[in-house]
Amino acid sequence: MAKINRRTNTLGWVKVIVIVFILALLPLAKLGYAALQDGLGANPIEKITRNTGYWTLTFLLVTLTATPLKRLFGWLWPIRLRRMLGLFAFFYGSLHFSTYLVLDQFFDWQGILKDIIKRPYITIGFPAYLLMLPLALTSTNAMIRRLGGKRWQALHRLVYVSAIGGVIHYWWLVKKDLSNPLTFAVLLSLLLAIRLFYWWAGFRRKTT
Ligand code: HEM
Repeated sequence: MAKINRRTNTLGWVKVIVIVFILALLPLAKLGYAALQDGLGANPIEKITRNTGYWTLTFLLVTLTATPLKRLFGWLWPIRLRRMLGLFAFFYGSLHFSTYLVLDQFFDWQGILKDIIKRPYITIGFPAYLLMLPLALTSTNAMIRRLGGKRWQALHRLVYVSAIGGVIHYWWLVKKDLSNPLTFAVLLSLLLAIRLFYWWAGFRRKTT
């Protein structure tokens, strides 16, 4: 009986993973569909860059909600989805960067260097993306074992830096209406504040 229950649970969980995986691909499918319908507007490169950038930041923030949800409500299921969602953040980040590199700059390395130096939002966006690389590369169970839990956790704290960099990048590139970057900034501050609170509470418990 216990075996059957375990198998039903596993099957249910596989379904959840497949559904979340498909949902996470929807923004890309929507973009692809719009491209096929000639629906990307007057500046398709800008549309693709903006869209993939938006989803990079969204997936980063969704990934960062897993631990607060566990702390606040004891939910464990978001933790089990965290790795996949984090990899989707990296996936959309890579599409975002590739759009800039290939379609916008067409591998003009000098132009890219000039952008990194002269345009502050690129200066901050570049490291924010690069920081996601080691996180994606060390996301496997084998890498967690190889690095050891403590070192792996320390490395993966870079995700906070990347998310903060992403929000500043968004803030700096917007010219008029700041409401979207402000929403991301408020949500990220809330998520980081919850973590900080639990870290501080744990620290106090240890020292008193
Ligand atoms: C090498 C790294 C990056 C480059 C070169 C880059 C470049 C760009 C460019 C050119 C735009 C469009 C600007 C405009 O149309 O005026 C943009 C928008 C955006 N990027 Fe990036 N970006 C990078 C990394 C990132 C990262 C790591 C994130 C998120 C964590 C991010 C999030 C965004 C967002 C949210 C937008 C605006 C989306 C919107 O308008 O709705 N970018 N980026």
